[in-house]
Amino acid sequence: MLFFGVMIMSTPTKRILTGDRPTGRLHLGHYVGSIRARVALQHEYETFLLIADLHMLTTKNTREDIQQIDENARQMVIDYLACGIDPSLVTIYLQSAVHETYELNTLFQNLVTVPRLERLPSLKDMARAAHKEEMPYGLLGYPVLQAADILLPRAHLVPVGKDNLAHVEITREIARRFNRMYDEVFPIPEALVPETGTLVGIDGQAKMSKSLGNAILLSDDAKTVRKKVFRMYTDPNRIHAHIPGRVEGNPVFIYHDVFNPNKAEVEDLKARYRAGKVGDVEVKEKLAKALNDFLDPIRERRAAIEADSGFVDEVIYQGTLRTREEARQTLILVKKAMGLTGVWNRISRRAERRRKRLAKAAG
Ligand code: TRP
Repeated sequence: MLFFGVMIMSTPTKRILTGDRPTGRLHLGHYVGSIRARVALQHEYETFLLIADLHMLTTKNTREDIQQIDENARQMVIDYLACGIDPSLVTIYLQSAVHETYELNTLFQNLVTVPRLERLPSLKDMARAAHKEEMPYGLLGYPVLQAADILLPRAHLVPVGKDNLAHVEITREIARRFNRMYDEVFPIPEALVPETGTLVGIDGQAKMSKSLGNAILLSDDAKTVRKKVFRMYTDPNRIHAHIPGRVEGNPVFIYHDVFNPNKAEVEDLKARYRAGKVGDVEVKEKLAKALNDFLDPIRERRAAIEADSGFVDEVIYQGTLRTREEARQTLILVKKAMGLTGVWNRISRRAERRRKRLAKAAG
């Protein structure tokens, strides 16, 4: 027991913070891009997983959009849990319910310049939806809000997709600047980006995305998956099975490489594809099977979680309360380091002394 206690004290667990906007059900791209790493690391790191609804508001903030957060967050959390995120290890929370997020965001806004934010390539992607003249101030501040998320639990590691790398870089700059200007409060967090890179869509576009309509959802049933695989973009020059085909960059083979555990089968298919000795049907049939074998246990766990509908609410509720407590402690350190606590303490102390003096004189 004592030994155990000493071990914990001498090796404080490092922390992860990561998360997604609540867009609803997740797809294979999310799995490859970040969920897989989160599941693998949850035993090693103390993990905070945020439902980034405040980030969603930078592009979608109507009453109707906001109404959907509830169900979208729940669906996303079901996918996390179905993929193997263990809620007894991982703190899952609703960003908008932790008010320290807004506080830290406000304080961080002065630690980064406007030109630095304007240079971010991700801003151009996100602003494309809106017209430039209509770009909200909050969208420019998107990475600053993300820095507030990451530094709120004073995280060390951020497993994200490649598209979020630049935001982690901004976070590192903000943390360094804060530590240098005020006091050493924050670790400098590292991004963890998967080697496999971004998963292509079934249409061959660079990125799988629900809004592009080229995604296979983790909750798609077997028939839907098969249908999507058969619609999948392959080598466009290969109009007959006997024409030699291109394997490199071919979505069907990219998916085989990621999801088919039978490496011998994949190598055989590739060799025959290159030689013009296999039809697309066989390649796709085998891919559909591999994907469905991969998704079956996820579907089973999803069904079990759905059967206990209050469970997901409980997970988010507990996680949010837990995060509030962590966040409160960080904000105490931050305001102390900046000297803000001192300003308020002096004013309130003087005001109270004066009250007492006046009360005494009157009484
Ligand atoms: N920007 C992330 C996305 O692309 C969501 C997000 C918000 C996030 N805050 C974060 C990811 C903090 C990692 C860490 O949806």
